[in-house]
Amino acid sequence: MPNYYVFLGPPGAGKGTQAKIVADTLQLSHVSSGDIFRANLSNQTELGKLAQGYMNRGELVPDDLTISMIRDRLQKPDCGKGAILDGFPRTPAQAEALDIMLRENAGEVVFVPLISVPNNLILERMTGRWSCRAAGHVYHSKYNPPKQAGVCDLDGSELYQREDDKLETVQKRLDVYEKQTAPLIAYYSAQGKLVEIDGSLEITQVTASLLQALAGK
Ligand code: AP5
Repeated sequence: MPNYYVFLGPPGAGKGTQAKIVADTLQLSHVSSGDIFRANLSNQTELGKLAQGYMNRGELVPDDLTISMIRDRLQKPDCGKGAILDGFPRTPAQAEALDIMLRENAGEVVFVPLISVPNNLILERMTGRWSCRAAGHVYHSKYNPPKQAGVCDLDGSELYQREDDKLETVQKRLDVYEKQTAPLIAYYSAQGKLVEIDGSLEITQVTASLLQALAGK
């Protein structure tokens, strides 16, 4: 049965950083809703144009658009044996839709790490974040700097700072997380799938905690 892992946590907690490392380690696909939206945005697709305003304001893109985008992605062959989901689901309606779409392929969400980080650290992480244009590889000017400033170590593409990492937008995203996404903590707790991971530690330590928790599943 294909197993799916939902990485949950506030914006800037390190979901993307950890999801990439764990996906590489376990040889699973990494599905990031934010990365898919950003790729659509830079390619100026209809979906990208529709999502842009919501993203720049720090709001969630409407459920119907997001669910259908993820359904398309999960139907790709590389997700057939399971995947790590980062940034999706983010509302109870998305979580219920995910359960239904996975069940259609005899899959299920088996593990939900909640990466917890206090708000003061989140602000520091987001304002120091640099992302690569080609594939969304993530760096931090202080905690995870690239070898050469402004250039991705992995693919040589340009590093940029995200439009939604401005202080006032980050604050809005944290509010949206509390109101719309935090209810998923109770949803997955009730199913016995949620494990809280201390995301305030160093990147390698967070990875070790995640892999240890995953090994028990
Ligand atoms: P999305 O891209 O998903 O943003 P997010 O969930 O807000 O998460 P981030 O990407 O900001 O942070 P992260 O937790 O991945 O942290 P990272 O690893 O980068 O979504 C963006 C927007 O798209 C949304 O606002 C919404 O509009 C839309 N959207 C996306 N999904 C949607 C959905 N399902 N429904 C509706 N709308 C949706 O780390 C942050 C920084 O910290 C980096 O610089 C990193 O190097 C550094 N760092 C990471 N870990 C550590 C550590 N342990 N120690 C020190 N530094 C660290």
